[in-house]
Amino acid sequence: MSRQNIYDNEAFFQRFQDNRRNPVNFNDCIETPILLSMLPDLRGKSVLDIGCGMGQHARQYADMGAESVLGIDISRKMLAYAQAHNSAANITYLPMAMEDIDAIDRRFDLVTSSLAFDYVEDFAGLMRKVHGRMREDAKFVFSMSHPIATAWDGAYDRYTRTETGERLYANLRNYCVEGLRKVDWVVDGYECYHRTVATLINALVGAGFVIEACREATISDEMRKRHPEMFGGTVHRPEFIFFRCGKWETRA
Ligand SMILES: C[S@@+](CC[C@H](N)C(=O)[O-])C[C@H]1O[C@@H](n2cnc3c(N)ncnc32)[C@H](O)[C@@H]1O
Repeated sequence: MSRQNIYDNEAFFQRFQDNRRNPVNFNDCIETPILLSMLPDLRGKSVLDIGCGMGQHARQYADMGAESVLGIDISRKMLAYAQAHNSAANITYLPMAMEDIDAIDRRFDLVTSSLAFDYVEDFAGLMRKVHGRMREDAKFVFSMSHPIATAWDGAYDRYTRTETGERLYANLRNYCVEGLRKVDWVVDGYECYHRTVATLINALVGAGFVIEACREATISDEMRKRHPEMFGGTVHRPEFIFFRCGKWETRA
């Protein structure tokens, strides 16, 4: 099984860090507000954050009253940043691949993940492992790249444009072909996995989850107008997809 650790590549890490430092980015303007709006009340809860990266979310969960937060990530560079900039007494950062979470000998009230599941080859297997780390009435809230966003391989512009460069509509390529996508983005051969929406839903249901909510990334018209280069394309295609799930056997 491939376990790419691209965030320990110096050029990639620097680019990601620069991107997060700019307050106008997809994470802070789109991903985080939607993900936070889907969370349950965190006061007194134990949280597992899979692919926690630089720890911004872990810190938010601690600030929202979580009793404890365990952030795991495969990248030591990301974890070093998290430890230096987003630590708190009730946050623990652990170097661990998400494929290994079944080795964690405890269960959580909330399992969450932001934009990390694009990198896992066996999505259905991971969903079963997540289910096994959850207490009976726990929630599972996560975001990942939308399958419409990963239906692209860099061979064409993502958009068909007018002569003046305006995005007319988004292009899809090989949406129905699932599997590894390699594109030249920051580094040659950046890898992520493309799956269809049906595959995501069936993996969740097959692992024993009830899907309570699903959202697709969006942003206000005002933000689109203010930052047309950054967000202009979001009117044509959602960059991210979000799910909130409970366990099937404890459904209300
Ligand atoms: C796009 S970043 C998101 C980081 C953070 N969740 C955020 O929202 O800012 C993806 C993260 O997933 C981590 N990652 C990639 N593959 C992983 C794996 N197999 N196991 C654990 N973490 C992984 C990367 O190191 C990186 O920190």
